Amino acid sequence: MRKIFLSALMLTLLALAACGPAATPTTAPTQVPAAAPTKAALKGELNLLCTPQQEWCDGMKKEFETVNPGVTVNFIRLSSGESLTRLRNEKANPQFDIWWGGPADSFIAAKQEGLLEPYNSAGLANILDPKLMKDADNAWAGIYVGSLGFATNTDYLKKNPTVKAPTSWDELTQPQWKNQVTIAHPASSGTSYTAMCTIMQLRGEPKGWDYMKAFSANVFQYTKSGAAPAQLVGRGEAAVGVVFSHDIVAAQESQLPLQLTFPAEGTGYEIGAMAIVKGAKHPELAKAWFDWALDPKTQELGPKYKAYQAPTVKGAKASKPELLQVKLINYNFDYCGTNKKAFIDKFSNEIASADKAK
Ligand code: G6P
Repeated sequence: MRKIFLSALMLTLLALAACGPAATPTTAPTQVPAAAPTKAALKGELNLLCTPQQEWCDGMKKEFETVNPGVTVNFIRLSSGESLTRLRNEKANPQFDIWWGGPADSFIAAKQEGLLEPYNSAGLANILDPKLMKDADNAWAGIYVGSLGFATNTDYLKKNPTVKAPTSWDELTQPQWKNQVTIAHPASSGTSYTAMCTIMQLRGEPKGWDYMKAFSANVFQYTKSGAAPAQLVGRGEAAVGVVFSHDIVAAQESQLPLQLTFPAEGTGYEIGAMAIVKGAKHPELAKAWFDWALDPKTQELGPKYKAYQAPTVKGAKASKPELLQVKLINYNFDYCGTNKKAFIDKFSNEIASADKAK
C-alpha cells in the first residue's frame, strides 16, 4: 500500500498563493520610463479544446477576446477521456490549437502518445511547485489544483436519520448505499479516473480492483462528465456522488441541498493542466493563450465563473483554500497517466462498460 500523508507541500503552496501579488512601490518614479515595445496585435481564430465546466470555458473565451480583440476563440467542451480520444483521432490533421483544463493524468498519457507540442513559456518560471505542476519537458503545465470530495443529498439524510454522510471510501461499498451512489465513468471523465487511481494507490492494485467491483455494485448511474453527479445528487436522483470538491461548492451555491465530506483515508487531487496540440494550425495564438493562462490575474478569474480550484502560480490567491486543507494522498501523476489506458480498459471490460454512462 502506498504511503499516505497529509500533504505539507500543498499547504505550503496554499500559504504561498495566499500571499498575493508583491506590493507596488509607493514612491513615484522620477523619470518617465521609456515606452515598452508594443507586441504586434494578435489576429485570427484560436480553436480551444476546453475540459472544465461550460460556464468557466465561456467566461475564459470572453476574457481572452477582451484582451485580444483581434482574436476569436472557438471552443468545444469535452470531458478528459473524450478529449484524449479526439486528439488521438485527429493526430494526422489536428483541429484544436490548445487543450485547456482537466486532470494532468490525461496530459501525461497524451504526451506519451506524441500528441502535445512542448512550449517553454516565460510564465512557467512563476509556477508554485514546478516538479509537481508542470511537465519536465514543458509538454504541459498546471493551471489549477482541486481535491475530490463526496456530495450527499441533505434531504435524503433527513429522511434517513440513521444514515450519515460518508467520511471514508470504505463506506461507499456498504449495503446502506446500494443503488444510491453516482460517479462519472472513468473512460470519459478525468474526475472519475482520479477517483479510481486514488483507490489503486490507497489499496494496491489487486485489492483496488476488489474495491472497484464492490463500489460499482452500489452505483446507480455513471455519468459522462465528472461534475454531473453533483447535479444528480442535488436533484435527489441518487444520495451520494464522488465529485471534485470545488464542483460540490459550486452546486451548493446554486442552492442544491448538498453536504460536502472528505474521506478519512485520504483523498486524491488533480493538477488541472493545459498543453499546445502537436501540429496546431495557430501556434502563435495557442502560445498567447498559454502565456495568458499562467498570469496570476487570469488564474484569479475562476470564482467569477463559479470555478473554485486553487491557482498554480505565485501571486494568485486561492478562493477556497480550505478545499486543499484536507488529508490528501501523495498522488502519483506519472503512475496514473502511464496506466490510464490499461486501467480504463480493465474497468470497462470487467466492471462497467462505458456505453452505460449518461
Ligand atoms: C470539472 C472540474 C474540473 C475538472 C473537470 C474534469 O469541470 O471542475 O476541475 O478538471 O471536471 O472533467 P471530466 O468531465 O473529465 O471529469
